[in-house]
Amino acid sequence: MFEKIVAAPDDPILGLTEEFKSDPRVEKINLGVGIYKDESGNTPVLKTVKKAETILLAKETTKSYLSISGTPEYGLAVQKLLFGNEAMVIAEKRVQTAQAPGGTGALRLAAEFIKRQLGDVKVWVSDPTWANHNGIFAAAGLSVAAYDYYNTETKDMDFAGMLEDLKTAEANDVVLLHGCCHNPTGIDLDTAQWQQLAVLCNNKNLLPMFDFAYQGFAFGVEEDAAGLRIFTDSCAELLVASSFSKNFSLYNERVGAFTIVGKTAENTATAFSQIKNIARVIYSNPPAHGAAIVTLILNNTNLRAEWEQEVTNMRVRIQEMRKQFVATLTEEGVDGNFNFIQRQNGMFSFSGLNRKQVGRLKDEFSVYIVSSGRISIAGMMRSNIGTLCKAIAAVSK
Ligand code: LMR
Repeated sequence: MFEKIVAAPDDPILGLTEEFKSDPRVEKINLGVGIYKDESGNTPVLKTVKKAETILLAKETTKSYLSISGTPEYGLAVQKLLFGNEAMVIAEKRVQTAQAPGGTGALRLAAEFIKRQLGDVKVWVSDPTWANHNGIFAAAGLSVAAYDYYNTETKDMDFAGMLEDLKTAEANDVVLLHGCCHNPTGIDLDTAQWQQLAVLCNNKNLLPMFDFAYQGFAFGVEEDAAGLRIFTDSCAELLVASSFSKNFSLYNERVGAFTIVGKTAENTATAFSQIKNIARVIYSNPPAHGAAIVTLILNNTNLRAEWEQEVTNMRVRIQEMRKQFVATLTEEGVDGNFNFIQRQNGMFSFSGLNRKQVGRLKDEFSVYIVSSGRISIAGMMRSNIGTLCKAIAAVSK
């Protein structure tokens, strides 16, 4: 039976890492996947995570199942991080959170929930968006539409185009927004734009859904939630898929959350019962370890402050790399103005390199970046930026 199966294409991001690992060339650079690396090229376990693990190891008494939606302590910690400690939605019990296996697991839960409970609505994603979004929604049988987001000429946001496209959305359609550090462009909405968009979603009765995977990587943990909080203040219903892969560096622990805000506590509780039902038939109940670490750190005043500093350190190093990348591209004589790279937020730079150039970078210089031209700045180091920019100069001629 298996002889008839046709091979699936490699994943554009994780497949690239597999290719990178099997590349025998010594001087290779992986700027494909969004993983933070320090100046030595390592992805260290955060100090606060190690401390939390020591505490958990000593006090853990059981490996029994968690409940379908995970622990309530984790859910509350996630909600406070998203909406603020004193948020009305929390006080009014209009919000519920299901612990999910990573941000992708949370998005998949969301997709199933939308398909089963909201019917044949469209999910609007930005053009461009994270390479996995389309696949996740399509896997749940949802149709996906794209709204303009990026102007290739100005290398900036196309907000007018975004509004134009979303005006054609129909009532109940879902609009997927990146909470901060838009993946792949690194270009985020400003306060006025968030407000304008919230008005549009309200007027047209669209359901906002936030993919929030980089909280803390643009300006700060609190600051980066500004857009989500504007929406929470003005929209009665919304969804959030969030992740702790990046800001807790807990990539392989798969710690994420799917959060729903409803009009009333009762509406939310009813909808949440359906979400639990979906989780039960996909993975039954979530893994405990990563979420226990996050809960402990967020609820401990000292560890929380130390963790915020660790996030700041990661953010600042990436910003430094952005500056150095721009300076070195100029030094190497690469044509063009690259200042836009310093305006982008988060791990990625949408470089404007085309598919042919990306292919040459891999084949001739063993530099791996995603075919859209997205470069993970978080994978750059002082020691490889020179080699990288020389390679870019060679393919840009
Ligand atoms: C990325 O965009 O590189 C990360 O979110 C990792 C992934 O799963 O694609």
